[in-house]
Amino acid sequence: MNLFNVYPLFDITLVEAKDVFVHDKNGIEYLDLYGGHAVISIGHSHPEYVKHINEQVGKLGFYSNSIQNPLQQQLAKKLVRFSNCWDYNLFLCNSGAEANENALKLASFHTNKKKVISFTNAFHGRTSAAVAATDNTKIIAPINAQQEVEFIELGDMDSVEKALSKNDVCAVIIECIQGVGGLDESTTEFYKALEALCKKHDALLIMDEVQSGFGRTGDFFAFQRHGVTPDIISMAKGMGNGFPVGGILIHPRIEASFGLLGTTFGGNHLACVASLVVLNVLKNEDLMQNAKEISSYFSEKAKTISQVKRVKGRGLMLGLEFNFPIAELRKNLIFKHHIFTGNAKNPNLIRILPPLTIQKKHIDLFFDALTKELLK
Ligand SMILES: Cc1ncc(COP(=O)(O)O)c(C=O)c1O
Repeated sequence: MNLFNVYPLFDITLVEAKDVFVHDKNGIEYLDLYGGHAVISIGHSHPEYVKHINEQVGKLGFYSNSIQNPLQQQLAKKLVRFSNCWDYNLFLCNSGAEANENALKLASFHTNKKKVISFTNAFHGRTSAAVAATDNTKIIAPINAQQEVEFIELGDMDSVEKALSKNDVCAVIIECIQGVGGLDESTTEFYKALEALCKKHDALLIMDEVQSGFGRTGDFFAFQRHGVTPDIISMAKGMGNGFPVGGILIHPRIEASFGLLGTTFGGNHLACVASLVVLNVLKNEDLMQNAKEISSYFSEKAKTISQVKRVKGRGLMLGLEFNFPIAELRKNLIFKHHIFTGNAKNPNLIRILPPLTIQKKHIDLFFDALTKELLK
């Protein structure tokens, strides 16, 4: 049997990883500035992570959501304290798409409406409503296209107001900093206006922090810099440092009832332990502060490279924009210099999404390689 061939793969087989490095089956070491798509937050195979997951799997790896699971309570408490999102409630699931799917579903239940507003270049995942709210017609099947979604340019407040004024919108979903789309972020004025308009027209504001959350930008959530209070916050990627876990934080004015949302695997014992370790290590190793410091260092170094048109993003969710397509450069970085980076919808943008444990010496390795490639 063959694998269903949906992924264009690099011919590299990884067998081991430690902190910011991964190793392939031929013993080649790669610097990981991609974090497996912004997933590795506290570093590959962090000793605390390995220890606690091992211990938990030896005790109780899984049971369904039909029994008490104190690890879920612990995670909810710690998460709320750490994120400063006091009073929010937590629903746990398994991925980013699932988090957004549940967020949109909840918004529809809560408002008894069904239209969604999303933004150009948005990416929210590949499930039913999440993919319909994603700005990529190639991945929206006819079955998804039946969802009512209006796409508006990021920052176009007039169009948002016009769309919301019909009072048929259940949710506005937005990545505070776009990931796959290419690291665009709007202004505080825009996010605040969005919040106010959602309130006025009884629509829920969903902040998709699947990629930007869990400390990646140097703030726990990227939206916190703009001083807004979303109704629902979706999370995944860095939340489990590679263990599949996602979730939504839900404002207390949205009421729960039995059966409203549910999942078999979501919030299982291993997932909770993975996420608890991530929060502990983020705190104990001051990784959000590290994200800020390394980010400044990266931006300073980028300024010295004349071909870099712009540095985009914040913290360790960064992009380097050139005025040429980066596909070849990215390939050379991997195969000649053994450095993983990411790409984006914008073909001229290299994305940098390393573990939050990264140090200045690793950034130097990247810029040395980049300089060599650009001088050719
Ligand atoms: C902002 C954002 N939302 C949602 C998703 C979907 O997450 P997942 O692939 O875990 O379903 C992604 C994945 O890249 C993302 O970047």
